[in-house]
Amino acid sequence: MRLNRYCVMQKDLAICRIGTCFSLRAMIIVVIQSSALIYFGSDGAIVPPPWSNIDKNPCAALPGGWQMLYWAPLKKCFKIFQVGYPCPDTMELSPPSNNNHTAECRCPPGTAQSVLNDECHTLFTKGPCSDGEYFSPVTDVRTLSTWKTGGAQKLGKCKLGRNCPNGSVFWPPDDKCYALYTRGPCPKGKLLTVGAGQIGECKCENRGALAAYFYNEEDSCYEHFTKGPCQKFGELFLPSRKCGCHPKLPHYYEKTNQCFEIGTPGPCSKGHIFTVSENTDDQNPHASCVCKTGYIPWSDGSCYRLYTRGPCAEGQFLINSTTCTPNICGKGRLYFPEQNTCYKIGSQGPCSLYEVVVFDFTSRPSVDGISYNGVCGCTALIKGLEQTCTSTQEEEKSDSCDSTPGMININGICYKLYTQGPCGSGQWLEPVKQLSSEELTSSNKVQCKCRPGYTTSETKSGTLRCFAPTVGLARWILQLIGYEEAT
Ligand SMILES: *[C@@H]1O[C@H](CO)[C@@H](O)[C@H](O)[C@H]1NC(C)=O
Ligand SMILES: *[C@@H]1O[C@H](CO)[C@@H](O)[C@H](O)[C@H]1NC(C)=O
Ligand SMILES: *[C@@H]1O[C@H](CO)[C@@H](O)[C@H](O)[C@H]1NC(C)=O
Repeated sequence: MRLNRYCVMQKDLAICRIGTCFSLRAMIIVVIQSSALIYFGSDGAIVPPPWSNIDKNPCAALPGGWQMLYWAPLKKCFKIFQVGYPCPDTMELSPPSNNNHTAECRCPPGTAQSVLNDECHTLFTKGPCSDGEYFSPVTDVRTLSTWKTGGAQKLGKCKLGRNCPNGSVFWPPDDKCYALYTRGPCPKGKLLTVGAGQIGECKCENRGALAAYFYNEEDSCYEHFTKGPCQKFGELFLPSRKCGCHPKLPHYYEKTNQCFEIGTPGPCSKGHIFTVSENTDDQNPHASCVCKTGYIPWSDGSCYRLYTRGPCAEGQFLINSTTCTPNICGKGRLYFPEQNTCYKIGSQGPCSLYEVVVFDFTSRPSVDGISYNGVCGCTALIKGLEQTCTSTQEEEKSDSCDSTPGMININGICYKLYTQGPCGSGQWLEPVKQLSSEELTSSNKVQCKCRPGYTTSETKSGTLRCFAPTVGLARWILQLIGYEEAT
């Protein structure tokens, strides 16, 4: 369901959640493969592209005609997607989007035309903008009809970036702040740094702050205590910039003498997550396998998502760790546990004003099977596209961080436990031990603590400082887990 993912990423349309979705590029998906153009029709079948019709495009008769477009002003054929001449410098010659089959000059994908200077610039970078600003798609001119046709030229303008807390950087594509030197939205092997104009940039290099994360063998960068480049199951990328494992780490799994990333499936069986339980009074806590949030343990050793079929017989779903119940919901209806009844999707059901019954879109049907759990979602569609359900979406965002074991939301940024996060040098985020559940809020659930091996000292003003170990631990341990100061 790629389109749905597209929608969720765009977060523009609440209608995605009830299964209808418009994609700007849905009209035309072109893949260049061994220099031939393949055009997918709306049914997914490969069909000749419309501009290969000789009647409409005189260039189609030439050798390689599928790749040639007729440019009427010069009465000549040009290669498709050629940047520059006959188009303006930054534009490419594009297949017709209009009915009269004339080729058009358009900004290449990922770029948009500046309303200031008419040139195409890469979206979500500094582009032609001032420091602290980024080049953003102009969304206020987008109407439902341009969504459907993909017709209008994409426009961009400079927009002020978000002011992110210290130790984090603004990432324009999703309008979020991410902790520096974490992978965040970056491709594998790169980490977030501050780029041109104070905008987040994915990067890897063996100098400056990134050097601490640089993996020599591969020319790539990884967060510490993640799987990173490590090939061997049960090893993590350590501050020594090598792959390894050590029993002193919270990431250590005693049963198999291996280490796993916190908040991942790790060594666990289906439906579990490897995480450190909160409120442990263990001074040297170790992660273990627990059911993911919203999942319950079943007698077969796996955890299953509530209100999916899980281990139940056909036509049933799971309501607690011992019971399957016949699925009483008819087609297009979803279950509300509190009411113990089903409501039609899109109806108001038990929801408040401006909300309707929608799928629980945190469930992943490919992993868990279909969830019959109904939730209340905003009715943005009814009130117009610009009417976003901002407040509830913000809540969902932070909830989805907080409710993910091993992740914690601090000032709107999602951090992983046992990473440096917003903490000082030599420190990492640990769950606070022994707090009653009433005392727990997301920000006091965790604290900055010295990493194992570091010596704790508190200054007069109460600031925690952590000193790299010099004595007390065998040298080989230090080297192994990387607490040896860089020489
Ligand atoms: C074809 O469409 C383009 C752009 O919409 C327009 O500029 C041009 O005049 C049209 N040509 C004809 C022959 O209708
Ligand atoms: C953030 O950094 C700025 C500049 O380095 C500094 O002046 C400010 O005190 C810092 N704020 C916090 C909360 O650490
Ligand atoms: C599960 O639900 C059934 C039916 O409502 C109930 O009888 C049973 O006690 C529940 N089991 C647990 C462990 O909650």
